[in-house]
Amino acid sequence: MGILDKHALLEKSPTLLLTFSLLVVTVGGIVEIAPLFWLENTIEEVEGVRPYSPLELTGRDVYVREGCYTCHSQMIRPMRDEVERYGHYSLAAESMYDHPFQWGSKRTGPDLARVGGRYSDAWHVDHLKDPQSVVPESVMPKYAFLAETIIEPEHIEALLKTHRFVGVPYTDEQITEAKADFKVQADPDGDWDGLLERYPGAAVSNFDGQDSLTEMDALIAYLQVMGTMVDFSTFTPDASR
Ligand code: HEC
Repeated sequence: MGILDKHALLEKSPTLLLTFSLLVVTVGGIVEIAPLFWLENTIEEVEGVRPYSPLELTGRDVYVREGCYTCHSQMIRPMRDEVERYGHYSLAAESMYDHPFQWGSKRTGPDLARVGGRYSDAWHVDHLKDPQSVVPESVMPKYAFLAETIIEPEHIEALLKTHRFVGVPYTDEQITEAKADFKVQADPDGDWDGLLERYPGAAVSNFDGQDSLTEMDALIAYLQVMGTMVDFSTFTPDASR
């Protein structure tokens, strides 16, 4: 009696069939998924992608807290209509420092993966305070309260350390300078040379136009960096991988 005849046993017993199916799926899953966690080239490294600055990272937390991802994706698919509307399709490397990633699964509003630099800070302030004032038919809620919520960098070092713990390569210098970097990014009159060395291309601006540092500043700092780290005029995808 060949081994295949024994298969009848499995087919006749639901419990056995379930147990063995589970076993097969588990082994298959481990073989396919586990190596990705250790392979160096799971994510192709792309020049320009850097960890978020302290203020951007704080803005990202506001973005997550407010559930912006329930209406906005951050994932441009490589289809012609998407690329023409939003720009170059998203690269894995562009969200390699996102914990958790914000790809989203719903587009009530447009994809935001490359919204950085598309609008002025003042436009974002008007739009976040009252979206219908700039896009009358918008169904986006108002977030005016963000401009009234003052933020302090009390926990910023811990936040950076936590991200380092899950794999973001923040240096010791970035952590010791976190408080200063946090404040100076929203202060164009400050001494922000060090900030730009640590976070090339970061936008330094008084984002919300007020003297005090608010959640609005942080959120706009984050929106303005989205999708701007990679220079697509020089980027060529490495198709060999
Ligand atoms: C209920 C769904 C909804 C939520 C929640 C939402 N938005 Fe929107 N958003 C929209 C819609 C619809 C539009 C398109 C109309 C407009 O520009 O207001 C939009 C547009 C935008 C735009 C302009 C994008 C572009 O390319 O023109 C930005 C930036 C934006 N939203 C940011 C945010 C942020 C940040 C949050 C969280 C604080 C957020 N949105 C929450 C629905 C939403």
